[in-house]
Amino acid sequence: MATETPIFAGAVDKGLEGVVACTTGISSIVDATLIFRGYTIEDLAAHSTFEETVFLLWENRLPSGDELTAFKRVLGENMSLSVEQIKHLKGLPTKGVHPMAWLRSAVSVMSLWDPDGQSSEPAAQRRMAMRLVAQMGPLVTLFDRNRNGKDYVQPKPEKGLAWNFLYQLKGEEPDATIAKDFDTCLVLHADHELNCSAFAARVTASSLSDIYSAIVSAISALKGPLHGGANEQVMLMLKEIGNMSAAREWIKEALADKKKVMGFGHRVYKNGDPRAKILAQLSEKLGAKTGQPAWYEMSKAIDDVMQKDKGLLPNVDFYSATVYYSMGIPIDIFTPIFAVSRVSGWLAHIFEQYSRNRIYRPRGQWVGKEGLKWTPVAKR
Ligand code: COA
Repeated sequence: MATETPIFAGAVDKGLEGVVACTTGISSIVDATLIFRGYTIEDLAAHSTFEETVFLLWENRLPSGDELTAFKRVLGENMSLSVEQIKHLKGLPTKGVHPMAWLRSAVSVMSLWDPDGQSSEPAAQRRMAMRLVAQMGPLVTLFDRNRNGKDYVQPKPEKGLAWNFLYQLKGEEPDATIAKDFDTCLVLHADHELNCSAFAARVTASSLSDIYSAIVSAISALKGPLHGGANEQVMLMLKEIGNMSAAREWIKEALADKKKVMGFGHRVYKNGDPRAKILAQLSEKLGAKTGQPAWYEMSKAIDDVMQKDKGLLPNVDFYSATVYYSMGIPIDIFTPIFAVSRVSGWLAHIFEQYSRNRIYRPRGQWVGKEGLKWTPVAKR
């Protein structure tokens, strides 16, 4: 008889809301304050590069100048994809394939070439982590160029990950300020406490499965429109609305129809997402710089209606959509960019999980039938 009551009965079928599943020292959210390893996101966005943020997340401290140089050098050395890898990855289907589905498959395929792929030895795991962070951007750009019949662009290892992403995507050197702003976007997305994809990574790691398997789980979770997929949906919504004069009416109708407006609301932040504030400023700045201020203006109008009529504030996905769009990035590449950055946080979570592991194995509260007796197929 199934009679046991789960301990956290209040969270059952409520997405584990309010349940504390593990201790963590990587990132924390308290009210509207987000910190990575003790530093506020505002401080990091203003001063840190993405590479420094990755070091911070993994090592629990900021690097010295020499350490940062060495860290960037190793990342640079790991950025290139081999001729064999490029050949095989180019053979994967792209027609009608969402880039996140391709990326999930490509990362899984990459594990087959990794000489450390199955190792649980800490130094080997660190080498895998470096490869994953260094190669996530090149993989996404290979996908985009390949589907457009363009050749893969070799990275310039002496440049940073953000700069190279834009360079490899477009095949031309990016404007220095745009590359810097893109780097800030990567910093902002690097980690976010026990979100859906970080939890997915930790659950897979908790069975002592390998790093690639945990990252593939995380990419799969990030892909959904309620998580990382929202930034793409935001831009599609803005394009559907079309212009400022239609924005307020469109949102009011969507709310009346009980539709979810992508890029708003959050399970944890109830007084605003600090990343959205930074991204709103970037969206305004880049819109003006690239001669497309209308997207920011329309976003701001929607933001006002959502706050006034629904009491909902924008999350990280709302203004990042127009930031990436004004950088000339294809809309369906927005969510893969999330993965390019967040892979660093997932890896920090995987390391933390391995360091004090116990397999995740919660309980399900039984609501099914009981006491049935088997009927032979001929009598059903
Ligand atoms: N648009 C309209 N209404 C929204 C909303 C949105 N974006 N987000 C939440 N709500 C409403 C819900 O309809 C619900 O209202 P109800 O109580 O009248 O039914 C209430 O607010 C609570 O929402 P719920 O979906 O239960 O919250 P959650 O904690 O389970 O989900 C999100 C959090 C982020 C998944 C949710 O806000 C959402 O779907 N947002 C849009 C997708 C998005 O931007 N995701 C990126 C997250 S960083």
